[in-house]
Amino acid sequence: MATAPQEVTEISAGGHPVVLGRDALRVLDRRLGVEDHSAAFILGDENTLRHCLPELLAQVPRLRDARTLVIPPGERSKDIAISGEIWRHLAAEAADREALLVCLGGGVVTDLGGFVAATFKRGIRCIHVPTSLMGMVDAAIGGKTGIDLGGVKNLVGVFHDPLAVYIHLPFLKSLGKRELLNGLAEMLKHGLVWDAALWEAIGKAPLHDINALTPLVERSAAIKAEVVKADPRETGLRRVLNFGHTIGHGIEAHSWESPQRALLHGEAVAIGMICEAWLSWRLDVLDREANDRIAAQLLALYKPYQFDSADNHRLIELMRNDKKNSAGRFRFTLLTAIGKARTDVNVTAAQVQEALEHYRLLVRG
Ligand SMILES: NC(=O)c1ccc[n+]([C@@H]2O[C@H](COP(=O)([O-])OP(=O)(O)OC[C@H]3O[C@@H](n4cnc5c(N)ncnc54)[C@H](O)[C@@H]3O)[C@@H](O)[C@H]2O)c1
Ligand SMILES: [Zn+2]
Repeated sequence: MATAPQEVTEISAGGHPVVLGRDALRVLDRRLGVEDHSAAFILGDENTLRHCLPELLAQVPRLRDARTLVIPPGERSKDIAISGEIWRHLAAEAADREALLVCLGGGVVTDLGGFVAATFKRGIRCIHVPTSLMGMVDAAIGGKTGIDLGGVKNLVGVFHDPLAVYIHLPFLKSLGKRELLNGLAEMLKHGLVWDAALWEAIGKAPLHDINALTPLVERSAAIKAEVVKADPRETGLRRVLNFGHTIGHGIEAHSWESPQRALLHGEAVAIGMICEAWLSWRLDVLDREANDRIAAQLLALYKPYQFDSADNHRLIELMRNDKKNSAGRFRFTLLTAIGKARTDVNVTAAQVQEALEHYRLLVRG
């Protein structure tokens, strides 16, 4: 009997492929039949196992015998004690070097699962099935793994490419709106640094409609894959992806110390992008009109973050702690146009402060 052709696209992220499209999970099932493994384990958090595991098992019957490992949801699970529990669990189940770990979840599950896979018995294979928007367009792609230590994010980790990343858009149906906007910030960033058409299209898309979002998510994942492929170990080009992140990381860390609700990474990056687009204009590399359009679109999507002038000093201190700002110098990725970025631009602390002040006045209630 003839079967319908499968609808998938496969793109290379250098060290691993990314499989996209309606039948991505069916391709995973077929490949599991070809690539042999001794035992399969599925790692997820409580939410992703509840919302996404039934669909995964329905489309990937070859995983029905896999044992599941569950972690609590949230960043706190990117922890050495949780890694230890998973290592011990794998050992108790007699997992050998041919075991396979399928990471079903957001960036927490793929970062942690990738790290555990990289280190267990000096490295077993893993597959990423991202379920959050952040995971699909960013975290699951590129082979960076890691856990947090002593309150510092991603302090311990290694590069470990998964066998492949399989992106199944319907998983997004159970994701909350705040988490959707969180991932959308990275998609907007991909548009700003790489693809003006993507930026424009996101501005017009009905964000609650997964069908409308699908081609934009796929384009965004393809951009991440393309950049990673060109610079797998982040020695140059990959730094274009840091746009919005220097100031964004400072704002994110500041929000953890403030009485306001802590910001999600993407929410902080959206603010960082407003500030860094303004810096691009201030340093004469971006025109005024582009800067205004960027600010208007981001302000329409993301809630303002309030702080006082007196906080600028602390914000700058937090940015200095960031590993990317070596020796007290600030090196930014700035925009030269919508869709084009320049890396390694030196910026002074006084200019960073001006950018923060610009944002503060823009959103002052
Ligand atoms: N390795 C990289 O290159 C890279 C890049 C970006 C981010 N990251 C890491 O990713 C992490 C953030 O990822 P995240 O934003 O996906 O966070 P997350 O994994 O904590 O997921 C966010 C929340 O959504 C829930 N969730 C996920 N998918 C769901 C679904 N389909 N339905 C219902 N709920 C769902 C999760 O349980 C969690 O509560 C951070 O630790 C960050 O450091 C890594
Ligand atoms: Zn980011």
